[in-house]
Formats: sequence, structure tokens, C-alpha cells
Amino acid sequence: MGKVYVFDHPLIQHKLTYIRDLNTGTKEFRELVDEIATLMAFEITRDLPLEEVEIETPVSKATAKVLSGKKLGIVPILRAGLGMVDGILKLIPAAKVGHVGLYRDPETLKPVEYYVKLPTDVEERDFILVDPMLATGGSAVEAINSLKKRGAKNIKFMCLVACPEGVEAIKEAHPEIDIYIAALDEKLNEKGYIVPGLGDAGDRLFGTK
Ligand code: PRP
Ligand code: URA
Repeated sequence: MGKVYVFDHPLIQHKLTYIRDLNTGTKEFRELVDEIATLMAFEITRDLPLEEVEIETPVSKATAKVLSGKKLGIVPILRAGLGMVDGILKLIPAAKVGHVGLYRDPETLKPVEYYVKLPTDVEERDFILVDPMLATGGSAVEAINSLKKRGAKNIKFMCLVACPEGVEAIKEAHPEIDIYIAALDEKLNEKGYIVPGLGDAGDRLFGTK
């Protein structure tokens, strides 16, 4: 059974407050999303497997640890997930990056897939699927379907702001998935926006309307 982790580290909470603020402009919003993604990546990678290697320090021989196994796959859900990629790559620069392109139909709120490209060896690779927002959960559920359909077996979902409806949707469709969030907000409004949320993450990141 998957778990839900809320990263309520003071630095994350502080930065989140500023991305929620409607007076925060595109440049600052983008920088803060990047910084929060880095902080979350530090936590989410806590259980990465290690292996021992023999090295020689300037003083003596030593047995030390390095990451083992296939390189991680980071998969942003386009387009807003792109804002989190560089922040994660700061800590895991050798990770592979895939993309899942989905948009939410504004009328039905249902996700529409328009692009998928993943790294090779999908079956053996661990994936972190990223999107700043988990609202109805439709996009995340569909993106996870898309990864699984192509053979992915180990997927974590990471987002900045979630609401209970979205968390429940993932739990129902993909009960084994661990979900990592920076804040669990109150609810969805009638237009499918998270309350209080931060508005449209893609528009705020890219300065569109
Ligand atoms: C936003 C957000 C998520 C989705 C969440 O993307 O980045 O992908 O909505 O909503 P859901 O949980 O109800 O599916 P949007 O569809 O606005 O596309 P964009 O990233 O291209 O702006
Ligand atoms: N997508 C967003 O960007 N914001 C929301 O509040 C809900 C979905």
C-alpha cells in the first residue's frame, strides 16, 4: 500500500507561501518552484540504494558508498511539471528525463494525452513523476497509466500542492504509489482549482494566461 508524505520542512513552507501569493511574478515564481523541487528531491531520494566501492583517499584505502542501479528517471507532466525538473537535476544530475504531455480539458477537466517519451529500460528504472498540482487527480492517474503501460514498475509521484480529492483518486487507481507533497490543501472548487492553492501553475510559471 502506497503512503502519502507531506514535506512540511520550514524552508519548503516558507517558499510555498510566496508561490501562493498572487503578487509573486513569473520570475520569482519560477525560481521558488525550482528551489522547492530541490528541497523535495533531497527528501524523496532518502531510500536510494547504495553499493560499496573501494577508493584511495590521500591518506589510505577506504570502502565507500555510491548510488547503485539504473539512473533515476524524472518525468515531468507537461507543461507545469517542467518547472520542477532543473531543481531535481541539481541534486541528481545524471538522472534521465522523460516527458508525458497532458492537458486538462477546461470543460470536462479530463486529461488529454498529446506526447510521451521515456528513457530506455523502463522496466528496470525507478521513476519520479512530477507536477506542481494534484487537483482532480485525473492528470496524475493518466500519467501513471501511461508509465505503467510502457513497463514502469517503480513510480513515485511528487507535487507541490495537492487536495484530498486528488490524493484519493491516485489511491483508488494506483494504490501502491507513494505520493510526496509539500502541502495538502482544503478542497477543489467548482472550476477544479485547488483552494487556496496557487492558481494555474502552468500559467504562473510561463507567464501565459
Ligand atoms: C495542471 C497541472 C496538472 C493538472 C492538475 O495542468 O499542472 O497537470 O492541471 O489537474 P488535475 O489533477 O485535475 O488533472 P494543465 O492541465 O493546466 O496543463 P498545463 O500544465 O499545460 O498548464
Ligand atoms: N491545475 C492548476 O494549475 N491549478 C489548480 O488549482 C488545479 C489544476
